[in-house]
Amino acid sequence: ADAAGDIGYGKIILLGEHSVVYGRHAIAAPIPLHIRAEVKPQPEHTDLMIPRWGVEMRLSEPERSVSSLHASITLIAERLDLADRGMRIDVFPHIPRANGLGASAALAVAVIRAMARCFEVDISEREISNLAFDCEKIAHGTPSGIDNTLATFGRPILFRKENALARAEIRDLSTPAPIPVVIGLSGVATLTMQTVGSVRAAWEKNPARYESIFSQIDALALAGADALKKGDIAELGELMNIDHGLLNALQVSSREIEELVEIARQNGALGAKLTGGGGGGAMIAIAEPERTQPIASAMRSAGYNTFITEIR
Ligand code: PMV
Repeated sequence: ADAAGDIGYGKIILLGEHSVVYGRHAIAAPIPLHIRAEVKPQPEHTDLMIPRWGVEMRLSEPERSVSSLHASITLIAERLDLADRGMRIDVFPHIPRANGLGASAALAVAVIRAMARCFEVDISEREISNLAFDCEKIAHGTPSGIDNTLATFGRPILFRKENALARAEIRDLSTPAPIPVVIGLSGVATLTMQTVGSVRAAWEKNPARYESIFSQIDALALAGADALKKGDIAELGELMNIDHGLLNALQVSSREIEELVEIARQNGALGAKLTGGGGGGAMIAIAEPERTQPIASAMRSAGYNTFITEIR
């Protein structure tokens, strides 16, 4: 949090998306992109303004079309015991929406922090994460809890959910030197609820077959935690490449993501994979520092938006 507002972090999943929904380990790290929120008291009505997304909503009035955004903000106000207070909520997103970068969780965390600060509600970091998790359920159905956890704590973690989020295993990960990451955006919205749903349907039809894929991904995530600790980016890259193959086995990639992965590898990436829900959305590549620019420019030449960041 800073004086100018309250922040929720965006994230990338390095290893373990989808299998994390089934109780396996995943590694996630924050990205420098975030969502900021400001709340000011005002008489009577509650308004939500997100100019960058073209959102202007009066929350205290019944809605014509049901939106998960409306439902999330209403839930936050209720849980903080502020349902009868009027306020103006301004949200400034610096994370592209529907790209698998955790924008919805980051928004929930930023609004929770800003509302709590404005009305002097005492709330712990754990409670912020749990409330953001309940907001994620509205948007995503059966989230694992990794997005809200990252959005709240904003540091690299090894994550495994328990049946109750309160008992999730969250281990801090540190790495001896920053690891350069190129993020490629496919330009196609990811609907995490849809890909999570298609994986669930496949799993229901053949649980044994899919459980074994999830367990293989689990082993990659655990090996990845060791690789991160040692700063072994060649090993981490190989684990990411294998994970991407298994995500293909789950059929959650897309033509654009495959093209981006191919471009990254041709230009010297040590590892490249989709990140987040898939079906569109974003991919990540790790590389030696001097390779990140060539990878990013090759992606741009092919018509994709990219940015360079690092895990630290
Ligand atoms: O697409 P995102 O940023 O919501 O990432 C989702 C990660 C999944 O493992 C696919 C779902 C989850 O809830 O963990």
